[in-house]
Order: sequence, then C-alpha cells, then structure tokens
Amino acid sequence: MTNASPALADTPVTILGIETSCDDTAVAIIRAAADGRAHILANQVWSQHAEHAAYGGVVPEIAARSHVERLDSLIAAALAEAGLGLEMVDAVAATAGPGLIGGVVVGLTTAKAICLAHDLPLIPINHLEGHALSVRLTDPAPFPYLLLLVSGGHTQLVAVDALGTYERLGTTIDDAAGEAFDKTAKLLGLGQPGGPQIEAAATGGRANRFDFPRPLQSRPGCDFSFSGLKTAVRQAALKAVTSGPAYHDAAPLDGQTRADLAASFQAAAARHLADRTSRAMAVFSARHSAPETGYRLVVAGGVAANCTIKAALNHLCQTEGWSLIVPPPKFCTDNGAMIAQAGLERFQRGLVAPIAQTLAMPARARWPLAEPMDGAPRVGGGKKGPKA
Ligand code: KG4
Ligand code: ZN
Repeated sequence: MTNASPALADTPVTILGIETSCDDTAVAIIRAAADGRAHILANQVWSQHAEHAAYGGVVPEIAARSHVERLDSLIAAALAEAGLGLEMVDAVAATAGPGLIGGVVVGLTTAKAICLAHDLPLIPINHLEGHALSVRLTDPAPFPYLLLLVSGGHTQLVAVDALGTYERLGTTIDDAAGEAFDKTAKLLGLGQPGGPQIEAAATGGRANRFDFPRPLQSRPGCDFSFSGLKTAVRQAALKAVTSGPAYHDAAPLDGQTRADLAASFQAAAARHLADRTSRAMAVFSARHSAPETGYRLVVAGGVAANCTIKAALNHLCQTEGWSLIVPPPKFCTDNGAMIAQAGLERFQRGLVAPIAQTLAMPARARWPLAEPMDGAPRVGGGKKGPKA
C-alpha cells in the first residue's frame, strides 16, 4: 500500500465499480471533482429476479451464468451513459466477496482483465464495506456512525469509525432479515422477492391480530434472530385454516388472514430490528463521544425500503435524539455505485496496492468486514453462507 497523499484528494478521480455478488449485475461510474464528493455519472443494474422466480430463491449457477452474459454489455452501457471511454477511468473497483462465489469470480475476473488491458489499478472491495459507505454517495455522513445493514444476505449492526475501521456490534444468529421476509412470503404463497410482496400484502392487514414472539429478549447483546418468527407465522397459518384443505406452504389462506399474517410478521420484524438497534445505540454512544452534529444511524440493504421498518427506526431515533439517514432505495439495494464509492475513498487515501498484488487476490465467499465485538464467535447461516 502507498501512504495517503493529501494532494490526491483534490484531483478529480473517476472510478468504475462492478458488483456481482448475488442476483444483481451492477456497474456504475462515479467521479469525485474538486469538492471531494462523488458525482454519479452512470448507474446500471440488471436484476435477475425473473430468472430465479420459478425456483423460489436465488440459484447460484443461474446467477453466475447470468452475470457472465450481462456484465460486458452493462459495462459498455455504463461507459455510454457517462459518455466516457475506459481511458478516462482512473481505477476499477470490484466486489471480491463475500457472496455467491460464482458471481464474485465473474465480476472480479472481468475487473482484472480490464485493469491488465488498460493498465489501471484494481481495487478489490468487500461488498459489506460498499454497503457501509453507500450513504456517502448522497449525504456527507461524516464518520463515525452506526450502520444497520439489512439485506437478503446480511443483518448486522456495525460501528463505522473510519474508512477501513469497522466494529461489528451485532449480527444474525440464523436468517438475515430479507431472507426471513422472502421465506415468509413463500409460505404465505406470495412471490419473490418477498419483502415488497409482504409489504404490499400487509396493506389492509391487522398488525395486532397475531402476537408474534420477541426474539432474544432475555439474551444480552445486539444479535438478531428471525427463524423463530418465521416458524411462528407458519404455526399461526396452520391454526388459521379451520376448513377446506389442510394448510401447507402456499395453500389457500383467506385474503384477510394472509394480510393479517403479513402485517403481524412485518410489525414483529420491525420491532425486533428497532429493539436490537436501540441496544447498539447504547453501546455506540458509550464508546464514542457525541459528534458536534449528534449521533447518526445509517441504514443500508434492500430491507431498508420497508416503510414500517423505517417508521420504527425513525421513532427510535426521535426518542433517542439521533438522526436517521436512509439513502435512496437504489443505493440501499445492491448497486455498482457503492462499490465505486468504496473504491474512490480507498483511491483518495492512497490505499491502492500494486497490480501484481491485486491480481493475485482471490474471490472470497466469506469475508468478514469487522471482527465481532468482544471476540464473540461468528454465527449464522443463510443464502450467502455464514453471515460475515
Ligand atoms: O440488498 P439487497 O438488494 O440484496 C442483498 O440481499 O444483498 O436486498 C434484497 C432483500 C430481499 O430479501 C428482499 O426481499 C428485501 O431485500 N426487500 C425488502 C423490501 N424490499 C426488498 N424487505 C422488506 N420490505 C421491502 N419493501
Ligand atoms: Zn448486498
């Protein structure tokens, strides 16, 4: 690594970002001008949802093949959108993990080929760092802040102290929040991805009809658990079917019951997320003196689009005197701009290794962003493997 050069931060820098760790092929180009802030010149996303819909979840082989088929044309589309050629790009940032390994290999290998052919530096990025910094695409969000990352593959509370300095305060011990929405949608006979489907089905539902459990209430710490909630929904659905064919996944539930189950589940998930976040706020504020502008909670990941969850976090922040920052949905879900942003910040700080070193960097299915608080063991499973 070279040392940070203060002059570097004042030079306009253009970064190409590539994201292929799950079921979105995403490419963006951002440029930091003299004001230091990123300007998004192109943001292209190809969602594979339709390709996985028939299987009720993301199929790794289909995902990898689809990245192979789409990535080249998406890079061309991003360059056309930005009106640039590769000779105008200063570095390529690509997700190197964690994620579905086939997809990560596709994105990282493509980035390596571009860098070799055009003599550009390669900046391998931890996907979770991309989520942690995505807020800084649209908001000054100075360090430090508390991050709640809620996606289909990850659910974590992280103290973001500085670029490259992260402490994990909590993680899920079983399913990720988005995964719980997806699985619950499946068992209610709704489509995928389940989060938006549950949110839509919950409209007109009674959130107080089913009293779902409050996970991990008696356990100290900031970890999450969603699998009990999912089981409770299944049991309530079984009980609710009193006539007609016995209930099984996707069996007929009357419309009102399905709406009530969706609303009650969504409310319980929001309660749980807010409860654990409030614990993490206490830990964070005990360890960080209050910034001049007050403490900040930043939310990232696809689940951050959920209005009930946003409302619960907003209420929590108002009660605690924190500010809540939720980036626009297109930067909460997987996107290339957040990878480019992480690359830009590393580039500006001179944190770029020689190409011979980065070419040797492997794609990683698992790559923890931060060591857990107090050396707690890493736990959890899920569609992207153990939660990093
Ligand atoms: O961050 P993301 O696009 O991809 C990764 O998983 O990395 O997040 C996708 C997840 C899916 O599980 C999806 O069901 C969930 O975000 N999601 C939502 C909503 N929109 C997307 N969950 C709850 N409510 C929503 N409105
Ligand atoms: Zn993600």
